[in-house]
Parts: sequence; C-alpha cells; structure tokens
Amino acid sequence: MSRFGIRKRLRAMLDRAEPEYTACNVTFVLPDGTKTVLDVEEHYSLLMAADANGITISTGRRAGGTCPDGRCGLCRVEVLDASGLSAMKDFESRSIDDHVAGTPHEGRPREAGPPRKDNHRLGCHAKIRGSGAVIKIPELFDPDSIKGGD
Ligand code: FES
Repeated sequence: MSRFGIRKRLRAMLDRAEPEYTACNVTFVLPDGTKTVLDVEEHYSLLMAADANGITISTGRRAGGTCPDGRCGLCRVEVLDASGLSAMKDFESRSIDDHVAGTPHEGRPREAGPPRKDNHRLGCHAKIRGSGAVIKIPELFDPDSIKGGD
C-alpha cells in the first residue's frame, strides 16, 4: 500500500469515528422525596450520572468524590427498580459487607455502617445499561462540609 493509501484509510477511519451516545432515563429520588427523571449516558455509573446532572450523591468522604479503590461502601443507594442496571459483582457485594461490618479501610479502622438491605447498591459500582431504573439517594453531598473557617 502506498503512503497515500494509508492516508486515505486513516481519513476514512477518522470520519467514521463519531462518538456513540445512548441516552437512558433514570429516576433519582432525592432525600427529601423529590423525584427527578434524567436522561443519562449509558455505561455511566449511578454516581457519575447523578453528578453530571448536578446531583452529588454523598460518599461520606470529607472532600466528596469516590474512594480510590471502590471499597469504602459509603456511596450506598437504594434501588427501587433495577431495570437497566448492571448486575452486582462479588467485589461490590463484599465492599458493602465490609462497610456493614466496619472492616478497616485504607489502613484505618472505621465504624460499622448501617445494616444491609437486599436492594442496596453502590453508586460507583452500579452501571447504567438501559432505561427504567429508580434510585433512592439516602444522602446528598453537603459542600458546606468542606468550607474552611474565616
Ligand atoms: S465511593 Fe467508595 S465504594 Fe463507592
């Protein structure tokens, strides 16, 4: 193939490289009971999808955001309808159990978390694969919690 042939093929590949975006609707029930139906991007985690729409699920971390290893179990949400959500993997389930048991995390001891319910998922683990999920958020991140003193 000539160098011109390569250029032509690369150009054809780049022209085809349109990002695919599939919107899925997910209903978030906020702590005050307000329901918000959002169009969110397929493959996003619940945490990312909510955050991209101005709803920041509390992860219990002082500065917000997710833990680096996905094992803190603090981003727990309640799934009222699991339609369109990825299946729970063992790692996610163990992370919830460790939080409930108060197993040390990141080398530090911690208090035991609230009891586990059958419909609990971790917001940073559960992925959106289609429409229809209904998610109850127990607590939103409070940005005032990180404000410094005067
Ligand atoms: S933020 Fe730590 S497990 Fe989700």
